[in-house]
Amino acid sequence: SGRRGLVIGNWKMNGSRVANLDLLTALKERGPWVAEVAVCVPTPYLADVALSLQGSGIAWGAQDCSRHESGAFTGEVSAPMLAEFGCRYVLVGHSERRQYHRESDNDVADKAKIALAHRLTPVVCVGETLAEREAGATEAVVKRQLSAVIHGVGHCIAQIVVAYEPVWAIGTGRTASPEEAQAVHALLRGQLAAATVHARDMRILYGGSVKADNAAALFAQPDIDGGLVGGAALDAQGFSAICRAA
Ligand code: G3H
Repeated sequence: SGRRGLVIGNWKMNGSRVANLDLLTALKERGPWVAEVAVCVPTPYLADVALSLQGSGIAWGAQDCSRHESGAFTGEVSAPMLAEFGCRYVLVGHSERRQYHRESDNDVADKAKIALAHRLTPVVCVGETLAEREAGATEAVVKRQLSAVIHGVGHCIAQIVVAYEPVWAIGTGRTASPEEAQAVHALLRGQLAAATVHARDMRILYGGSVKADNAAALFAQPDIDGGLVGGAALDAQGFSAICRAA
């Protein structure tokens, strides 16, 4: 395909000002890569990260945003605020948000929509739990999750990035096999194709225990366009190797 690979490091709730700058310095020394590379960092670090990555070719983003534009929503961070700090990406609907913060498919669709309205690229995360996979519900679950976003954002759907993250593979060291992941990616691309003529240009990332030693086999699949990387994104050498594989 003509799609450029994309690797996004999701730092989750890790880091410190000093550790982040060490990590980014080491990462910048290892680039550039053929693939596009980005890091999604904890919100308080956005200013530091923007300063460090400005002009580096590495993009940055956030891990969540509010579904509201502004107002009385204590503790929340808005899409326009993220845009102001130069974010290119914002994760929406990460399984940890769905699980621990009870985000619904509708909330996720609203977040994708407001991100797009502020020229951020929402990285819409979908994926089934182990119980759902074992019940044979994988297809139904990811289709339902993506469908909410397709309906929510309308013709802007071509502007999103999708990340397939089977919940049972996140932080467990157990990845989906390249074939298992490809099957779901193909399904998702088919669903996008029913909504937009641009589906073949859209990036669909795989996430869930991506490491330097399994990345190449995953990214070799026809519908896997890169990765959303958690734990392995905290080490410059390993993360760079993953970026090289995309
Ligand atoms: O957003 C990243 C995913 O949740 C994957 O995390 O690479 O630590 O399994 P992981």
